[in-house]
Amino acid sequence: MTKYVIGNWKLNPATLAQATALASSLTKITTQTVRLGCTPAFLHWTAVKDVLKDTNIWVGAQDLTHKTDRLGAFTGDISAAQLADVSADFVIIGHSERRQYYDEDEQRLTIKLNHAKSADLTVVFCIGETKDQYKAGQTFEVLTKQLSALQGISFANRLIIAYEPVWAIGTGLTPTLIEIERAHRHIRQALSMLAIDAPIIYGGSVNDKNARQLASSGVIDGALVGGASLNAQSFALIAQAFDE
Ligand code: PGA
Repeated sequence: MTKYVIGNWKLNPATLAQATALASSLTKITTQTVRLGCTPAFLHWTAVKDVLKDTNIWVGAQDLTHKTDRLGAFTGDISAAQLADVSADFVIIGHSERRQYYDEDEQRLTIKLNHAKSADLTVVFCIGETKDQYKAGQTFEVLTKQLSALQGISFANRLIIAYEPVWAIGTGLTPTLIEIERAHRHIRQALSMLAIDAPIIYGGSVNDKNARQLASSGVIDGALVGGASLNAQSFALIAQAFDE
């Protein structure tokens, strides 16, 4: 089965030259069963896509607007139709930083999911509990609620779920493997209630040291990698761990 190792570059790197250099370092990674992906900033997007055009590395978008799936007077926004036109391989929707800093709730995320669906884009849909919710034992409940944004939208095989505990993102902290596996099993069950089948990847402080353990699990279909994806060597080691 295909595994996915996707770099979420967020608002990095500082320059266009660094972004294209990082992209060309990805071309040196060889994997058999792992699909690699990256998400450059929009300003660097087409240049990175061009560097990776003769590879099978996915180049995705970090977000799309909820305002429309096409065109309109929405200063600063980028739409699903525009992403499809430049052959974006996927789009991230529901990342916790967007939920947290831009107040993206289930209702808005459902709109975004529908826009992506209408443009036939593959979606990496992120879900995960906060530290307080984790401490209060509400993880499963939170995941079920977040997954409800998918209700009634049929993505066929164009959907990947990323389980990313908010408290694990960029902190160096991770749940135990057993906790991650329990969450993945819960997600799988909640998805089946929605008649959805999709790969489930893990994100949150994945690095070249913990990747092998995560990859050894039969229920983790890959990784969404933030910080460590900006270091070509670390990212290559993570990809290789999932390729074994
Ligand atoms: P991190 O970020 O790997 O830096 O924790 C993961 C993410 O936000 O997708």
